[in-house]
Amino acid sequence: MEEILISSTADKAEKYKQLIPQIEALVGDEGDLIANLANTAAALHQTFNFWWTGFYLVKNNQLVLAPFQGPIACTRITFGKGVCGTAWETKQTQVVADVDQFPGHIACSGETKSEIVIPIIKNNEVVAVLDIDSEKLANFDDTDKTYLEQIALFVGKKFN
Ligand code: SME
Repeated sequence: MEEILISSTADKAEKYKQLIPQIEALVGDEGDLIANLANTAAALHQTFNFWWTGFYLVKNNQLVLAPFQGPIACTRITFGKGVCGTAWETKQTQVVADVDQFPGHIACSGETKSEIVIPIIKNNEVVAVLDIDSEKLANFDDTDKTYLEQIALFVGKKFN
């Protein structure tokens, strides 16, 4: 596969439906985790023009910055801190309509207004999070949650 093809007239749910099989094809036969995370972040970022799209990996009891698209970001996040650390602690997707209202939000970028963080779980442990930020308020809803959780489930299978 050389490029991601998404119909420009499709609504958000339809874009996810078109994107998911293409991500699965892109990473399906590849065993290298970093390569797969990099292409997944790029495919999502390119399809939806998010402000920031990327992964943090759990390493030595911290979240450590991993493949992403967008501006530079915080390198390490502690358990329970910010939106990412909360997704890790609770093992639940965090949908934040206004980051300024989220206690302890870590402002990597002043442009970020809303955010969604999906935990990636392997054998009942969080191994990573998928973090997506928008420069628009309330950019994420149940549609994003539903489809991004499908992507997180699929990506989780690529961890050793
Ligand atoms: N805002 C996040 C930190 C990560 S960056 O935005 C890329 C948080 O509160 O967890």
